[in-house]
Amino acid sequence: MDENKIDETKIKNNLHTNFIGQNIYLYNETDSTNTRAKENSHLPCGSVFIAEYQTSGKGSKGRIWSSPDGENIYISILLKPSIPPLEASKITLVTGLAVCKSIGLDTKIKWPNDIITGGKKLCGILSEMSSDTDTINYIVCGIGINVNTAKFDDELTDKATSLFLQTEKKHDRNTLIAKLLNEFEYYYTEFLNNGMKFLLNEYKNNCITLGRDVKVIYNNDTLIAKAVDINDDGSLKVETANGTLNVTHGDVSVRGIYGYV
Ligand code: BTN
Repeated sequence: MDENKIDETKIKNNLHTNFIGQNIYLYNETDSTNTRAKENSHLPCGSVFIAEYQTSGKGSKGRIWSSPDGENIYISILLKPSIPPLEASKITLVTGLAVCKSIGLDTKIKWPNDIITGGKKLCGILSEMSSDTDTINYIVCGIGINVNTAKFDDELTDKATSLFLQTEKKHDRNTLIAKLLNEFEYYYTEFLNNGMKFLLNEYKNNCITLGRDVKVIYNNDTLIAKAVDINDDGSLKVETANGTLNVTHGDVSVRGIYGYV
């Protein structure tokens, strides 16, 4: 047995949750763990789907998520929250906090959902939802963390990093997955019980976007603005030459400073 492989028993040895990760579905190879979670949406809330290798890893905005074999974490969490669909995007913010906490390095969040360290992207989050007008059927929260990748393809080198590249040592994925699921249950439960009341401050403290110039792609226009706040609903408040705008989706990127935009 390859002791570096992802292993359900090893994850569960460090898991202290009530429902997140109590059911683990592990794949040596699959197209996308988000797709596996969606097709198994009848399973209980908190079921997780993990792959060693994704043949069609999905990134945000229709991009591909590079998913080499046996190096990183590709995980999707199936959630069934009793909240209005309009609140769903907050779960991405909550996930960002859980990832930052579980990694423990000096990580920051680029609004809404990129985790960066050393000026490069370490982790991406892709949430997908099925809902009716006022009910959520399920949310799949997909998380990709670059753990042990030593070298990225040329087009990613300037934008992406891994825990290995940041710390010069290999990391145990089973321990990290357990930590992530433990933190996720804490933040997700806090959100369901108390909303973003306490979490928003923590998010703002971790958010690198605030105070910076951003390029907002809005109604097919691109405008330069200053990111000034995160609103209670999780949207980004920006100041433009023509006044204030609340950006409610991910079409905003930090300009200049970070290589990966
Ligand atoms: C992004 O582009 O920033 C989002 C990347 C999300 C990648 C993860 S890996 C696990 C899950 N399965 C997928 O196909 N995508 C997400």
